[in-house]
Amino acid sequence: MKIAVLAETAPGETRVAAIPETVKKLTGLGAQVAVEQGAGRSAGIADEEFATSGANVGSRADVLQDAELILTVSAPEAADLPSAAPGALLVGILDPFARREAVQGYASAGIEALAMEWMPRITRAQSMDVLSSQSNLAGYKAVIDAAAAYGRAFPMMMTAAGTVSPARVFVMGVGVAGLQAIATARRLGAQVSATDVRSATREQIQSLGAKAIFVEGVAGIEGEGQGGYAGETSEEYRQAQAELVSSHLAKQDIVITTALIPGKPAPRLISDAQLASMRVGSVVVDLAAAAGGNVEGCVAGETVERHGVTIIGASNLARSLPADSSALYARNLFNFLSAFWDKDAGRPLLADEDEIVKAVRLTRGGAVVSERLA
Ligand code: NAI
Repeated sequence: MKIAVLAETAPGETRVAAIPETVKKLTGLGAQVAVEQGAGRSAGIADEEFATSGANVGSRADVLQDAELILTVSAPEAADLPSAAPGALLVGILDPFARREAVQGYASAGIEALAMEWMPRITRAQSMDVLSSQSNLAGYKAVIDAAAAYGRAFPMMMTAAGTVSPARVFVMGVGVAGLQAIATARRLGAQVSATDVRSATREQIQSLGAKAIFVEGVAGIEGEGQGGYAGETSEEYRQAQAELVSSHLAKQDIVITTALIPGKPAPRLISDAQLASMRVGSVVVDLAAAAGGNVEGCVAGETVERHGVTIIGASNLARSLPADSSALYARNLFNFLSAFWDKDAGRPLLADEDEIVKAVRLTRGGAVVSERLA
């Protein structure tokens, strides 16, 4: 099987879908791997490294010619993949809801598209979960960016010239990104607190040495949705949460918000009035900016100031750590492919009834087959 690894063309994309380690492993399975020239440049991987690990490095046209499996990060247009083999598999973060036309294009071109961000949250799929691997890095980077924008230090310092008090960091939304944000802020010496709607996170917050801030005794408290994701909360809960959070927010220096509800706009967690209650010089990083934002007035991809508070509308922070995000992403793809690899066929065999295949497959046999897109 010929596998093509493309250089990304989406604006701002820095990552690459394979690294020398995964090229070696894929060739070890019996595949031929072709990497487009310059594909790893922004992730710090030279063409020579790909070549040494067993890949043929060439032009886009050469790499795509008769490719049976195409690995990407962001979704290419079907028209950009003209010479791929009929029925070729396309594996990437394909953003299917926002890019329905591109998905239709894959179907019409006979390409079988697999959206890795639709990986189900089951134990078997943990090592293939691209949202987790990228969110983890985003949670780390959010704290680093906040520290850079904050005009004070994070740890407590006792010096001859007096004491520097520790920064107070509040993390709202304790999924993969939030947990890493807590851990990173703790490592930097901040006093950390955190909140979530899922009660299972209380113990996780405490085990990282942070204080759990939770709404108690209100109906609709359990925002536990399906498959480990949060659901929407009741109006009563939202009010109680806003009151609890208001008094806490006013005492914070740094706030990192990460709350997402799959398929819905991000919940609004901080209002303009709450921002106004914060200390001048505080920093808020909104990791849900691209999904509409948790913070009123936040602008995705931009840093704005309101009431003396810096609001960073973080979008796709994993792209700012391209070497690590590429490595984790490339391993996610390898783990997926190797789990379905059939030695005799020399390719992955994607059984229709498999839970993972059902979740990620968008197109097949010239049609859009994903139930979520129906
Ligand atoms: P996410 O990115 O969908 O959401 C981030 C966090 O925001 C979640 O913890 C959610 O509960 C929280 N949230 C939503 N609405 C909120 C509100 N109104 N107020 C406060 N917080 C709110 O979640 P993520 O990071 O993808 O992970 C959620 C869970 O799923 C975690 O427990 C994670 O370990 C699990 N997971 C399991 C996987 C597997 O087993 N393969 C893969 C990925 C995650």
